[in-house]
Amino acid sequence: MLRTHNCAELRKEDLTKKVRLCGWVSTRRDHGEIIFMDIRDKYGITQIVFDPEKNKEAHEKAHELRTEYCVRIFGQVAMRPEGTVNEKIPTGEVEVDVREIEVFSGSLTPPFEIKDSENVSEEVRLKYRYLDLRRPDMQKKLQIKHDAFKFIYDFLDREEFISVETPILTKSTPEGARDYLVPCRERPGSFYALPQSPQIFKQLLMVAGTEKYFQLARCFRDEDLRADRQPEFTQLDMEMSFIDQEDIFDVCERLFQGLFKKLMGRDIEIPFPRIDYDEAMGRYGSDKPDTRFDLFLHDLTEDARDCGFKVFDSVISSGGTVAAISAPGYKDLSRKEIDILTAFVGEYGARGLAFFKVEEDGLSSPITKFFSKEKLRVFQEKTGARSGDMLFMVADSKDIALESLGALRSKIAEEKGLRDPGVFNFTWIVNFPLFKFNKEEKRWVSEHHPFTSFKAEDKEYLEKNELEKVRSQSYDLVLNGSEIGSGSIRIHERDIQQKIFDCLGLSKEECEAKFGFLLNAFRYGPPPHGGVAFGLDRIITLFTGDPSIREVIPFPKTQKGVCPLTDAPSEADEKQLAELGIKVTTRIKSKKE
Ligand code: AMO
Ligand code: AMP
Repeated sequence: MLRTHNCAELRKEDLTKKVRLCGWVSTRRDHGEIIFMDIRDKYGITQIVFDPEKNKEAHEKAHELRTEYCVRIFGQVAMRPEGTVNEKIPTGEVEVDVREIEVFSGSLTPPFEIKDSENVSEEVRLKYRYLDLRRPDMQKKLQIKHDAFKFIYDFLDREEFISVETPILTKSTPEGARDYLVPCRERPGSFYALPQSPQIFKQLLMVAGTEKYFQLARCFRDEDLRADRQPEFTQLDMEMSFIDQEDIFDVCERLFQGLFKKLMGRDIEIPFPRIDYDEAMGRYGSDKPDTRFDLFLHDLTEDARDCGFKVFDSVISSGGTVAAISAPGYKDLSRKEIDILTAFVGEYGARGLAFFKVEEDGLSSPITKFFSKEKLRVFQEKTGARSGDMLFMVADSKDIALESLGALRSKIAEEKGLRDPGVFNFTWIVNFPLFKFNKEEKRWVSEHHPFTSFKAEDKEYLEKNELEKVRSQSYDLVLNGSEIGSGSIRIHERDIQQKIFDCLGLSKEECEAKFGFLLNAFRYGPPPHGGVAFGLDRIITLFTGDPSIREVIPFPKTQKGVCPLTDAPSEADEKQLAELGIKVTTRIKSKKE
């Protein structure tokens, strides 16, 4: 065996033992003649000592060693001299007197020091990810992810789910993002798509009689990247037959309860609360509300009706909404700070932000003159605005008014530190609308995806083509304001699935070309079924407390979709392209040019 112990193992009970350790030279301290080093492996660090009095040869060789050299040392365990014990590490009472040293490989001076607190730009970290991952903190994250995957695997196995793989080279699956295409050499001009999720295949597995499926599935989506979005990410994907929404909630809640206990030692209460989509939007201005703090939006449309303030009156008479939020402790904002907040809600489409300082004797604002005393009193009473608050209002279409104030709500929470990082609030959001209107493309699209079933009692709206009124049987799981999962009860009737495709404006030919195989499968006794998929990278990020999912993905892409380590994506050579029948018409300049 190359080693007798790992670098976190030796204790004073091991005194005088002859040991062999393998690892990387971590730090080096020359104390006159005697040289101290830390040797590090994945488990921890041990101090090693080179004393010329005890071993001249090893001591001479020690001069050659630099940090990150990969070595093996042979030596004897000794007590550290009194006063030099390091209580911060488990091996802190002992050290190893080195008799012999073997260098496996040398190392260039690394671009950054391999330690947790080192402040390095992300670009450099990703370019040298293998060194970045050598840091103990990063090793811990790999372990956490592994532990979570193992827990999930074992839990679902006990629940009689089986893991089934689905293809990576496949046909487009509609999850709302752009597909990554892979050209096919055998059929120039034809492309596979990388799966945005295993959605259709897991439904086919239900037709196939699998009943309880899961997969730790890699998904690919070409969309604008953010802190919580990567072009490839991992889902816990699940599907079940002969179940209703409550069956799915039950197994997921127990899964998360177990996972949090196992990984965080936390007791999570189940069942999780459920909030209607309408209520989430109305009270929190978001379909993924952070419910850790009680700061709510209020609908003042009816109270503001015919108030005499032109901006409000015209919005209300054209069917819009006046929404409000009272920001605690914001009364003394400067004009400039208010302008910044106005610009902030503007990013969400709000055309303005009305503000009222809440004084001891009521509301004060440049626009109070437009409102009667009675209206102002009602505004304050309805919103519960208290002296010292600033009451903000947006008048706009319902979506814009709620979403912009929802964003302001998050900003207030951020600025005032209202979010308790020690609290984990799970919430199911239920009763989403089935469709939403895409204003740019002027057509109805699925809020979740086209295979989602609707509420039986809303069938009449579907028949009358009042699509905005149809509610779906879909649900999201939200944890502390992050959407960690999403799913639905599916349509299993062929004619209804066809009807939904019609509503989405897909022609018969398009349906046949895109989803013919699914509709065909539905001719052969499809069972009622439903499922859900969770974004595992997001969940692990909540465990580690990191600001971005890139921290828990071993080899992630930057915000621009680039891998600084491999330099992917890169150009293909002419021969490859010719074989694929592809001609490149636009090129972006590479960095070198
Ligand atoms: P959905 O598209 O909502 O549903 O995805 C499910 C969950 O996956 C996570 N997620 C992402 N994580 C990281 N980077 C991304 N780019 C990204 N996109 C999504 C989110 C999200 O809640 N097939 C359906 C599920 C179903 O109906 O069963 C689906 O994929 O946490
Ligand atoms: P104006 O009449 O545009 O000068 O606006 C007067 C005040 O009303 C300013 O404080 C604006 O920010 C505010 N305001 C304008 N439009 C809106 C709106 N759509 N919602 C809320 N407040 C608005």
